[in-house]
Amino acid sequence: MKRSIIIDTDPGQDDALAILLALAASEVLDVRGIVAVAGNVPLTLTQLNARRLCDLAGRNDVPVYGGCSRPMMRDLITAENVHGRTGLDGYHWPEIKTPLQDRHGVDYLIETLLAADEGAITLATLGPLTNLAMALVKSPDCARGIGEIVMMGGGFFTGGNTTPAAEFNILVDPHAAHVVFTSGLPLTLMPLDVTHKALATPPRIARIAALGNEAGKACAKLLSFFNRHDVEKYGSEGAPLHDPCVIAYLLKPELFRGKDVYVEIETSSSLTLGMTVMDWWGVTGKAPNCTVMNQIDADGYFDLLSDHLARLP
Ligand code: RIB
Ligand code: CA
Repeated sequence: MKRSIIIDTDPGQDDALAILLALAASEVLDVRGIVAVAGNVPLTLTQLNARRLCDLAGRNDVPVYGGCSRPMMRDLITAENVHGRTGLDGYHWPEIKTPLQDRHGVDYLIETLLAADEGAITLATLGPLTNLAMALVKSPDCARGIGEIVMMGGGFFTGGNTTPAAEFNILVDPHAAHVVFTSGLPLTLMPLDVTHKALATPPRIARIAALGNEAGKACAKLLSFFNRHDVEKYGSEGAPLHDPCVIAYLLKPELFRGKDVYVEIETSSSLTLGMTVMDWWGVTGKAPNCTVMNQIDADGYFDLLSDHLARLP
């Protein structure tokens, strides 16, 4: 039985590899739809980029929706310094084929989740949580259709990557994150604590470049562009490959280790806004609300990624 998933995303080079991984795993994952959100770049670009990725995967059958163009409360902040002006800098994209659906992404989420059997849909979120939070606020009953949420976001022992305290996805829309983390829905978190252990090093990029297909060529170029910012910032061999961790977990959960933890989102402090405050040692006595992953088999992760990218056109 395939797992039905909806991907919520702000492509973004790392989102791109996550989406391609999911689309390549068609024997395991039924990607019901992709919903774009404003994040790395504005919505006009993230929705365009999501369509480009369906083209690259040869999957024009997957419906792409535009979701929210700004966070629930805050003004939008973006990350062109990391991802480039288009959000997918590094590769020369051909004319686009995959259409954009007319329905708003939040309405698509609500309608699909309300129509689904209880717990039938997995939400894979790769960007700010605005769309999912808006769906839960507008139609609380749609939560019934969600089996679990697997998300990339947050950081604790690593600190933040956008402020000293906050990771980008959570910082862009901390109020949306609060809605999701207090929803009571089953939640698995891929924070910086785990993604920073999965670096897109030159040998790993070279392996993808050598796949011999257009997807491998494109991904190698995207990763080479994506690397430049973080390699300089962290002095590391490669950039942490954040978002594909979400999809890799759905395909091969044994690649990851973590623990159940109570996590709360800072939504008011000017110093620590967007921080995922993790009660890692259980000192609050509050019941865990998510499973936080902090260990990864990085070689196994890149094996999985390369093997699946090889299946694409
Ligand atoms: O902090 C990393 C996250 O922010 C990733 O999802 C990246 O794509 C950006 O959205
Ligand atoms: Ca992202």
